[in-house]
Amino acid sequence: MTRTQEPSITSPVGRDTPRVDGPRKVSGMAQYTADFHFPDLLYAVPVEATIANGRLLKLDTATAEKMPGVRAIFHRENIGPIYRSTFGPGFEGICNERRPPFEDDVIRYYGQYIALAVADTFESAKAAADAVRGTYEREKPNVETHLTADEDPGVVMTGYGPAERLQSQRGDSEKAFASAPTKLDQTYVTPAETHNPLEPHVTTAIWEGSNLTLYESSQGVVNHRGVLAQMFGLPKENVRVITQFVGSGFGSKLWPWTQCPLAAAAARKLGKPVKLVLSRKMMFQSVGHRPLTQQRVRVGATSDGKLVSLQHDYVYHTSMLDPYHEDCGEATPFQYSVPNLRVTFGRAKRNVGAGADMRGPGRVPGLYATESAMNELADQLKIDPVKLRILNEPKLDESRGIPFSSRHLVECFEMGSQKFGWSSRKPDVGSMKRDGLTLGWGMAGCSWVAARFPAAASVQLRDDGTVRVASATQDIGTGMYTVLAQLASQKTGVPLDKIEVALGDTALPEGPVSGGSMATESVVPAVFAAADSAISSLLTVAATTPGSPFENHKPDDLAFQDGQVFLKVDGAAKGVAFQNLMRRANLRLVSGSGSSAATFGNPTPKFSTHSFGCHFVEVTWQPEIARLRVSRVVTVMDAGRIINPLTARNQIMGGVVMGIGMALLEHTTYDPQNGAPINSNLADYIVAVNADTPPIDVHFLDYPDKEINELGARGIGEIGLAGVAPAITAAVYHATGVRVRELPVKIEDLLV
Ligand code: MOS
Repeated sequence: MTRTQEPSITSPVGRDTPRVDGPRKVSGMAQYTADFHFPDLLYAVPVEATIANGRLLKLDTATAEKMPGVRAIFHRENIGPIYRSTFGPGFEGICNERRPPFEDDVIRYYGQYIALAVADTFESAKAAADAVRGTYEREKPNVETHLTADEDPGVVMTGYGPAERLQSQRGDSEKAFASAPTKLDQTYVTPAETHNPLEPHVTTAIWEGSNLTLYESSQGVVNHRGVLAQMFGLPKENVRVITQFVGSGFGSKLWPWTQCPLAAAAARKLGKPVKLVLSRKMMFQSVGHRPLTQQRVRVGATSDGKLVSLQHDYVYHTSMLDPYHEDCGEATPFQYSVPNLRVTFGRAKRNVGAGADMRGPGRVPGLYATESAMNELADQLKIDPVKLRILNEPKLDESRGIPFSSRHLVECFEMGSQKFGWSSRKPDVGSMKRDGLTLGWGMAGCSWVAARFPAAASVQLRDDGTVRVASATQDIGTGMYTVLAQLASQKTGVPLDKIEVALGDTALPEGPVSGGSMATESVVPAVFAAADSAISSLLTVAATTPGSPFENHKPDDLAFQDGQVFLKVDGAAKGVAFQNLMRRANLRLVSGSGSSAATFGNPTPKFSTHSFGCHFVEVTWQPEIARLRVSRVVTVMDAGRIINPLTARNQIMGGVVMGIGMALLEHTTYDPQNGAPINSNLADYIVAVNADTPPIDVHFLDYPDKEINELGARGIGEIGLAGVAPAITAAVYHATGVRVRELPVKIEDLLV
């Protein structure tokens, strides 16, 4: 496959395209979920358990109930039925915490909701929630950070279905490891991390009879509707979920959390709309986190660097009830060529809230471990880490025996090396200096799955020359409004400023979840099919409307391009604008709908479909004051055709910034006394900010991957984070001589 040519003159695809929703955002017109206001709106604030393990014996609500403006204090006895949800077909029934709120009196994690205060104002509700007293039977919480896998069967249930704990195997990895001339056996630890989108989780619930409307901060309105319909025993047609703008989610808003049924149940009881906005502290407790992982990696290699054995055995912590799976072994079986391999996982239950997908779930901590091992092996063998990787580049996906649809990882390494200036690296620790600072250089590779979720869309051509494109997907800040407009413009030739985009509403055709970096790749075929269908209707109108210049021609003789209908034999020069034809026919609009099936989860794929990439990192180190900074990053991504390079670069840069946080800052700490995530605020849980961010030089290879969709576009939301942390820890070693294998790297680690 050759690289994409220059885009055609009229196509917006492949061009830097400013966000079409940008003006609404910067002018304050964009309505985020909590911005919607309704007459008679009530405010709800949950009461959080202050223990992490035990039982709620008594709830004293008397004081709270008498407080001014308080409408109700809901709890197990008076909230009314909230049912469990189960898997549905496709992405219809996914939920990270299945236990409906208040279902029993057992407390399994700190911050579990035990009651809900509802009042006329947020302040009154908060005061009332604070006045509710719980009496508990306490047991010591288990938030131990050293993990030993629980006794589990060989096949365990996970949030997405059953999974074999022996995840992948070929050859005889034990034997090959035992006889390998060079061996590495290390354990890598990543901490629990908490999603910190700027916008907290929000639900506003409104009932009209047996119809429930939810204004929700959601990355997946369609699944959200399915789950909430089950929780309230409703047909899903009775539930509507609306999410116009999302202040990001990082995975924490993929699936519904317990605040949503609470708000809906309160609104049902009180007969008024109820809004519930989580506090930042609650965000650390009850809406997911990336689990703590502990990963043993054993690598055997020949003395010239050819891998002969790779074993990756990982354990992660999990909540008491929900089997969220942190799939650290996802990329291990195919990232490099190795004849003998084994990947296994285990789980260790802890008194923590349910785990959840967090940007690059599984693969990001997994690649941290395996890419760190590759870097250590390179140092052990005194081989350049880029060369070691290129030496072990596979010809096909060795775990499945199928070719990659489009893999240009070696070219990423080569371009990254060149842009970074890697050839001037001196391998000895502490040997590189600049301006009195010690430099450390490190690199790592990465990958992320590419596939499509099922998607549907509609496209309308209207008599004023505008186009409307709609799909019930979301824009979580990633640029979906713009992508949908670009796709509609590509097919119709109508400029972006004449395209209306509707998304984030289950009243629209069912679109994909904004997750797995798959939303863009999923909507491409659906929007194209919808546009084709609308165009086909238009051509029929052109051929059948009395007085139309194309009357008495067959629709098949007509073509549509750049907003013009014309006879194929005449060519586009003799075209008529579609809006003129529609006015003549007295039509406000012609519409088409289109859908595309999922490729994700296909058990017998012909190709192994992934994006690939690499990061080259420089750190500066001042041993005198123990100051470590990331000073520059070069990133190269092989992510298929890039639909909007402007927002794509932005996404990858965001991933790299988050990677700096993962490597050096982020860490959720659970108090062993009461099990609380104790750094549950943005002062104590530190994320990388602009001051931590060096110049980030992002490049895309732009090879279209036609296995994914007709444009060849793959996803870019998550891969930017993958591989950053191992590149940074390698750079830290190169600068300081300290090998840190437990993230984040702390100043104390470097004071040796
Ligand atoms: Mo991403 S963790 O699938 O939002």
